[in-house]
Amino acid sequence: MKTILLAGFGAMGQSIFDQLRDDPRIGRWLVLERAERADDARRKLGRHGQVVQSVDGLETRPDFAVECAGHEALGTLVPRLLEQGIDTIVASVGALALPGMVDRLDAACRAGGAQLTLVPGALAGVDALAAARESGLASVHYTGRKPPGSWRGTAAASLCDLEHLAEATVFFEGTAREAAATFPQNANVAAMVGLAGLGLDQTRVRLIADPAAGGNTHTISARGAFGRLEVMVEAAAFASNPKTSALAGMSIVRAVRNRLNAIVI
Ligand SMILES: NC(=O)c1ccc[n+]([C@@H]2O[C@H](COP(=O)([O-])OP(=O)(O)OC[C@H]3O[C@@H](n4cnc5c(N)ncnc54)[C@H](O)[C@@H]3O)[C@@H](O)[C@H]2O)c1
Repeated sequence: MKTILLAGFGAMGQSIFDQLRDDPRIGRWLVLERAERADDARRKLGRHGQVVQSVDGLETRPDFAVECAGHEALGTLVPRLLEQGIDTIVASVGALALPGMVDRLDAACRAGGAQLTLVPGALAGVDALAAARESGLASVHYTGRKPPGSWRGTAAASLCDLEHLAEATVFFEGTAREAAATFPQNANVAAMVGLAGLGLDQTRVRLIADPAAGGNTHTISARGAFGRLEVMVEAAAFASNPKTSALAGMSIVRAVRNRLNAIVI
């Protein structure tokens, strides 16, 4: 039976745990949480595991780790896990768009002989995009479309009049790296499309506020020697956090099960 270290027991971490806790192949959870949230995490974990407050000097070595602790953790916790040889599945993919982060994580993987897995999150088509890269991609576009209210509190508010839009409005066009930096709420998807395909600086991102949109949609369009790809997901929100797609949590659950399953899809 496997021991999993779960770094971060917030909305995403708890959802992952809830979906996986009855999997008989998982024997124990080690949950890393901040001191002020440790009691709450301990109560929710019950007999399934224990709370730890550092990834250094762990009494039990986890078989692998899952990061759900936020973008800052990518530069702090995750390199320490990788340097100890602990394979890590990462939710905070957007942090890889920060300057130097990919190189830093790559060096930590090499130092520890560990592997870092990035999850597609709410996106569909990342598998095909990454495969198509093998024969060369001519163009990759990501379009994020949400109702105006979903863009409130973001940089979109200063780029268009979100409160009085009569029609769909493109308020941002730029590279995946620029999108991740300017719109932290969309950083995970922008970075994932960039890293899977043409790279963060060659992938084009368009963000749209659309009064007619019923929900949030993520569309990837790509062309290359492989042919043409166009994939759209209309994402339902996570029950405990309306700003997150439910599919993002399922994507992490899938990555965990892929480490447990005999046959991997
Ligand atoms: N890939 C995707 O599509 C996708 C989708 C949704 C969320 N995410 C990412 O998942 C991450 C978690 O999201 P969330 O909604 O659960 O956030 P959250 O704020 O609800 O939870 C984060 C938890 O991590 C803990 N934490 C943070 N730093 C820590 C540290 N150094 N040591 C111990 N504990 C620490 C916090 O106390 C908190 O409980 C975010 O980075 C988010 O961007 C990715």
